[in-house]
Amino acid sequence: MTEALSVKNITKAFPGVLANDNISLSVEKGTIRAIVGENGAGKTTLMNVIYGLYQPDSGQIFINGEEVTFSSPRDAIAQGIGMVHQHFKLVPSYTLAQNIALGVEPRKGIFIDEPALNKSVKAIADKYGFQINEREVTVDVSVGEQQRAEILKALYRGVEILVLDEPTAVLTDIETKELFVMLRNLVEQGITILFISHKLREVLEISDDISVMRAGKLVGTVKCEETDECQLAEMMVGRETIGGRMRETKQKGELIMEIEGLSVLDNRDLTAVKDASLNLYSGEIVGGAGVDGNGQEEFVEALLGLRPLTSGKIRIDGKEIQELSTREIREAGVAYIPSDRYRSGVAVEGTIWENMVPGEYYVKPYSNGLALAMPEIMMMSGTLIQKFNVATPGLDAKTGNLSGGNIQRVIAARELGLEKAKVVIASQPTRGIDIAGTEAIRQMLIDYANRGAAVFVISADLDEILSLSDRVVVFYEGNVLDAGYYDETIRQRISWLMTSGKDYCVD
Ligand SMILES: Nc1ncnc2c1ncn2[C@@H]1O[C@H](COP(=O)(O)OP(=O)(O)OP(=O)(O)O)[C@@H](O)[C@H]1O
Ligand SMILES: [Mg+2]
Repeated sequence: MTEALSVKNITKAFPGVLANDNISLSVEKGTIRAIVGENGAGKTTLMNVIYGLYQPDSGQIFINGEEVTFSSPRDAIAQGIGMVHQHFKLVPSYTLAQNIALGVEPRKGIFIDEPALNKSVKAIADKYGFQINEREVTVDVSVGEQQRAEILKALYRGVEILVLDEPTAVLTDIETKELFVMLRNLVEQGITILFISHKLREVLEISDDISVMRAGKLVGTVKCEETDECQLAEMMVGRETIGGRMRETKQKGELIMEIEGLSVLDNRDLTAVKDASLNLYSGEIVGGAGVDGNGQEEFVEALLGLRPLTSGKIRIDGKEIQELSTREIREAGVAYIPSDRYRSGVAVEGTIWENMVPGEYYVKPYSNGLALAMPEIMMMSGTLIQKFNVATPGLDAKTGNLSGGNIQRVIAARELGLEKAKVVIASQPTRGIDIAGTEAIRQMLIDYANRGAAVFVISADLDEILSLSDRVVVFYEGNVLDAGYYDETIRQRISWLMTSGKDYCVD
């Protein structure tokens, strides 16, 4: 075999996480290597190291057997490595050809030679069998075509190793099939591809070899024809017995929230959630597991009135709420901890006390008609800040200056502090929070359920799900699949559902 790329003993730490722990792997020229692993396993970090975006703390990179060091992606590209990120970096107002040749355009004197530019881009597209309209303006073309332009941008610079970070996450099924045809063309011409994906079915369809990462480590590399979804799921998720369970399973009470036949579109108007049903009961914690991007965000937004339903009904205590505004839904007793705390959780420009009241300011005792009742607000905020251990110089501090973990505590304090919610919906409630903060927030969710609220926790962190849930559902390609009640085999059922949509494995 001819080795195109290898890494030896790559280690890369970020504050508090060992993102890559002594990783070694070798990729044969003209093959497709898939890299799989749960959210946070370290895949993107490793690719960023290979692409020169991050410098490793230790370890070596070899291209065609020669050791290389990169101080930037420019160096990596010069050595023949290109990368396409999940979020495209094209200039929207440029034509595809202008984007593809950006910075290396053919010139006539000091001017860009547009005809030569278009011709050279077309020649590269033809050579690799990519269909694009190189003269179209980028904003006007489909996501699939923009992605083709991103790949061509790398090929235009002569790269021979192409890193694709979750290229199919943004594509429709048809676009994915088209991409795979193009990838096969590329490898036939000697290009080597590293391909990150969460979809095991796809990985098994397109790759030659599959490397599995878990918690920063390389678990192993298997040949595609010698493995299956079951083995991969087990390598990804592990078999360890479950530690750190915080929840004693309780008897569920009466039905509080009923979600029936819910369908929702994503921001591209593609189906994000299809005909999903779920019942939430008093006193019960339901965990929503799943790899990010399988519809869980859109599902939660729909429950909160933040995203329109294309069909379905949502009831609280038997009353339909799907037509209500977010504010009315909150008044009906729904507390919400959003995952994107900067976008929807707080006003970063606001003070802490201002962020403590948004859901409440229009009700007594915090409002006397039009004016806010400041002494009451300050008292309530002060109590909550103390109860939730928010580290802040004072209630007048600007919220955006707090650390991520402290911002999350402000939100949790606001949403959970008033102890009257009937339903608590928490989306990635502890993402980016330190251990003490994580435990405090999890304990709060448990206290809520113990007081009779219906609690629904979405998390990409399987350990969080297993630590809290009485019952688990899995989001897979927009479906909400039932993994059943907590027991000693639930981890395996969840991992199968997450990666293949099935809750059994036939060997
Ligand atoms: N720039 C950064 N600063 C701090 N921590 C980081 C940074 N990049 C990644 N991490 C952390 O390193 C770990 C690995 O992250 P990475 O993005 O490599 O995971 P991944 O396998 O690509 O996950 P996903 O499937 O969610 O994309 C995570 O704990 C992440 O929070
Ligand atoms: Mg990633």
